[in-house]
Amino acid sequence: MTAPRHFLQFRDFSRDELAHVFARTRWIKERFKRYERYWPLADRTLVMIFEKASTRTRLSFEAGMQQLGGFAIYFNTRDSQLGRGEPVEDAAQVISRMCDIVMIRTFEQDIVERFARHSRVPVINGLTNEFHPCQILADIYTYTEHRGSIEGKTVAWIGDSNNVCSTWLQAAETLGFTVQVSTPPGYAVEPARAGLRGTGHYREFPDPMDAVRGADLVTTDVWTSMGFEAEDAERKRAFQDWQVDAEMMRAAKPDALFMHCLPAHRGEEVAAEVVDGPQSVVWDEAENRLHTQKALIEYLLLGRVGG
Ligand code: CP
Ligand code: NVA
Repeated sequence: MTAPRHFLQFRDFSRDELAHVFARTRWIKERFKRYERYWPLADRTLVMIFEKASTRTRLSFEAGMQQLGGFAIYFNTRDSQLGRGEPVEDAAQVISRMCDIVMIRTFEQDIVERFARHSRVPVINGLTNEFHPCQILADIYTYTEHRGSIEGKTVAWIGDSNNVCSTWLQAAETLGFTVQVSTPPGYAVEPARAGLRGTGHYREFPDPMDAVRGADLVTTDVWTSMGFEAEDAERKRAFQDWQVDAEMMRAAKPDALFMHCLPAHRGEEVAAEVVDGPQSVVWDEAENRLHTQKALIEYLLLGRVGG
């Protein structure tokens, strides 16, 4: 049996593979919009394991799998033996004998890596403390739809150097763009934790206004990610000056887009006038989770289909 391919970090895919997935996304999305049935995964089953809450990820994977003709089974920690201490390696052996592909949302990246090592089928990271590769797949596809290739462009990341930020940084290395990061003191990027090959694709700025200057895309995320709730009060104090507001958007390029993986907290990391404003593409971004993940699943299960 050949080892299955996984999507555990953004850097798991080459630039060429990403180009294929984006081309397939476009094809799949156009067909879907025309209500044309595309069922290449009839009788295939996706198992989704959630150890953290979700709206978009669950819905896009579950609906996406059904739209490809397959089935999706939802598990959470509370209702499975995973929450009662069954070793992740054992769970991987069992679950991967009963389905064709697995998606996991959990805490440490190490959990998905260990699961994947013991899985007979492809494993997709649906968010860990360290990474959120499916999100950035959708974000880059969304950027491309609105503005063309992201290569050579400048993305401003404002706020926490969290899972979504690290994934942007990996994407910048693979796809050749720059990320201008501004985080409060004590929350800076840790290149080793972000799994970066170098530091050449991002620059750090103490002042968020400097980070957004000249940006083609401004993006941010919650101040307190899932799993870090105990730090919430401390973070609210530390991040006060890292809210993306209209003044920041004015410092970016005039045609800059705004993205947020959602859920958003208006009045915290983003002002309502920005997330609900004319430069925001957050609803397209959320919708594209569906289309990009369908292309991702198709690629992991069927390889390079299509022209
Ligand atoms: N952006 C995202 O992953 O949303 P959910 O937490 O709702 O899945
Ligand atoms: N950084 C956020 C993303 C939620 C989709 C979190 O991990 O909670």
